[in-house]
Formats: sequence, C-alpha cells, structure tokens
Amino acid sequence: MQKMAGLAVLVLVALLAAATAQAQGSYGYGKSPAPAASPPESAPMPPPSSSPPTQTPPPPASPRTRLRFDFYKRSCPYAEEIVREAVRNAINVNPGLGAGLIRMAFHDCFVQGCDGSVLLDPTPANPRPEKLSPANFPSLRGFDVVDAAKAALEKACPGVVSCADVVQFAARDAAFFLSGSKIHYSLPGGRLDGRVSVENETFAFLPGPSFNLSRLIQSFKVKGLSVDDLVVLSGAHTIGLSHCSSFLTVSTPPSDMNPGLAAVLKKQCPANPNFTNDPTVVQDVVTPDKLDNQYYWNVLRHKVLFKSDAALMASTQTARMVLENAGIRGRFERKFARAMLKMSFIEVKNAANGEIRKSCHVAN
Ligand code: HEM
Repeated sequence: MQKMAGLAVLVLVALLAAATAQAQGSYGYGKSPAPAASPPESAPMPPPSSSPPTQTPPPPASPRTRLRFDFYKRSCPYAEEIVREAVRNAINVNPGLGAGLIRMAFHDCFVQGCDGSVLLDPTPANPRPEKLSPANFPSLRGFDVVDAAKAALEKACPGVVSCADVVQFAARDAAFFLSGSKIHYSLPGGRLDGRVSVENETFAFLPGPSFNLSRLIQSFKVKGLSVDDLVVLSGAHTIGLSHCSSFLTVSTPPSDMNPGLAAVLKKQCPANPNFTNDPTVVQDVVTPDKLDNQYYWNVLRHKVLFKSDAALMASTQTARMVLENAGIRGRFERKFARAMLKMSFIEVKNAANGEIRKSCHVAN
C-alpha cells in the first residue's frame, strides 16, 4: 500500500521531470557520433517473441548462420554446463566478475557483432584491437573466466565451441547467479568467432556515459535494439563498479545527482582521476551485487552515476518504462532475459567471415 502511494508520487515526479528534461552534451569514451547501421553479415534467426533487428537484409550470396537451442547437444554435450561451472567458480570468489561478464557480452555484441572480437589480443599486424580501447581497458573484466571456460571446453571437445558463444553463455549464467536465479533463459548457440577487432569501432558503436537520450536510443537502434531494450539493459547498472573517471570529468559529478550521493562520491574519488589514480565505486549502493530492479529506484531518486542513466528520465516514454521496471514485480527480470537474448543475435558471423578459434586471444 505504502509502495503504491510512493509509486503514484513517483509517477508525478517522473512526468514533471520528463517535461523539463533537457538533452545534454557528451564526454567520455563515445567520441564520434553514432554511425549509420552497417548491414548484418548474416541473417540471425530471430529470438522467440522478440522482433528481429531492423537492419538492411544480408547480401543474397552470404551463407547464413542459424543459431539453435541445444546447439552443442551432440558435438559437446556438456558445453553449457562447463561454462556455467567456470562462471559459478568465479562468482563465488568475486561477484564483480559476473558484472564484468555481462558487460563483456554487451561490448562484444555492439562492436562487430557477437563474435568474440572483444577478446582478441593485439598483434604486430593489429596493434589496437577493441580490447585496448579506453571503453574496455583497464575496466573490462572477466577475461580469465572466459579463458577458464574455453580451456575446459577444449579439453572436453577440442575445436567445437566458439569463444563468441562462451561470452554469451557466460553472461547468461552470470545473470542467473547474480539475480538469485530469477533471470534465466535458454540461449541458442552456433555463433562464430570473428577475425576483425578494431579499437576505433568501439568509439563509433559503444554509447558513452555522457550520452543524452537521443544518442543512446540511436546507438541501440543501429544494433536493432529498441528503446525498451535500452531501458531494460541499462538495468545492468544495478551491479558492478565504475571508475571515478567514467563519471567525473571536470571534477564534479553530473549536476542533477542526488547531493548525498555526490558528497559520498567526492570522498571516494580524487578531484581529477587519471590513469594512475582512478579508484572504483559501486554503481548501486543499495544492493551492489544483486541483479535486481533497484537500478530503477536509483534512477528515480537521482542516485545513479552516469548522465546516460539519468537520461532515462528525459522522455515520458522512457520515464514510464523506468517506473514500470521499478514498480512491477518480476518485470525487470523477465524483460532483461528477453533483451539479453535479443542482443545475443546481433550481427553473428557466418562461414565466410567466422571460425571457431582455438584460443580466444588470437584468430586461427
Ligand atoms: C546504455 C548505455 C551504457 C553506457 C553509457 C554504459 C557505460 C558504462 C560505464 C562508463 C561503466 C563503468 C566502467 C568503469 O569505469 O569501470 C559501465 C559499467 C557497467 N556496465 Fe554499462 N553502459 C551502458 C549499457 C550497459 C549495458 C547494455 C550493459 C549490459 C547489459 C551494461 C553493463 C554494465 C556492467 C555490468 C557494468 C559494471 C562492470 C564491472 O563491474 O566490471 N552496461 N557501463
């Protein structure tokens, strides 16, 4: 009852906020404007009950990759269990690695599609892969978990399971464990590993923490994801950490941040974080290791770190989604599972441009 009354007030607040919201400028690692959609290299099988990416159809000659549920049933029957075990072991030691794995799935899929390109190491021929982008280095974590899973898979069934699938399975399992098993979904396999990984593409495709709502919407749209997907997937900011440099630019946090949170952050962060002095803070002070809907309460209370989080209140449409995810029990968990599944279909590689890597660090 109390919560309902609170919700009614919040509806009002949200609508007011939406009416007065302004589009904001940007900083951070999304340096270039969102580019036009690149056509997918293959036509992924649309996930059940979600619309497929609305991008240019593939050229007629390209061989199609069809993702299938239970993809490894015959070729590597315990593949999914092996990945889950690696993720379980890692999260038992450090739940933050689960947050890293969920973020990794997003950063992989948005750049070159879900193809393990984020895992490729620099080589003399390609000294600046995605991995070295400021969007990923040094903050992206979970690489060791992927390596552990891949090593166990190579032992059980060499050359069968792609690194791209490991990344998506690992994110799915991390979501399962961190949500106390509330987020669970079947995930098709059959993604292939890409051979291309270019730092500059991270600037073009990964949204930055200072993006305003229209830039956020655009960067999801070019990947075939909706406004609803944006709001739901942003809910991942209910777990894990952020470096001070990701939200402090000119030594002050975003101006509409809750003053209490701003004061706490000021104590935790140096005035001018830099590469040698850049501490981390939790994204959700209430339930930092739980993948739950607390993020949306934090957004409503201006207790979020990034302008891109606060921007979800900048339109009535997205403010309503925030409210619904905050107030309707089970809604975030259900929608998060569907959106992660949908994201895992982005621009999967085909036989012409993909392979199954022996090591996730290098193309074969
Ligand atoms: C909507 C646009 C998004 C922006 C601008 C954004 C930006 C960021 C930034 C700046 C950080 C902090 C990195 C650091 O300094 O260490 C972060 C952390 C994180 N992000 Fe996002 N993100 C977005 C969407 C997403 C999505 C779609 C997901 C996953 C579905 C996600 C999952 C995470 C997680 C789990 C962390 C914590 C990682 C850790 O603790 O290692 N983010 N994000």
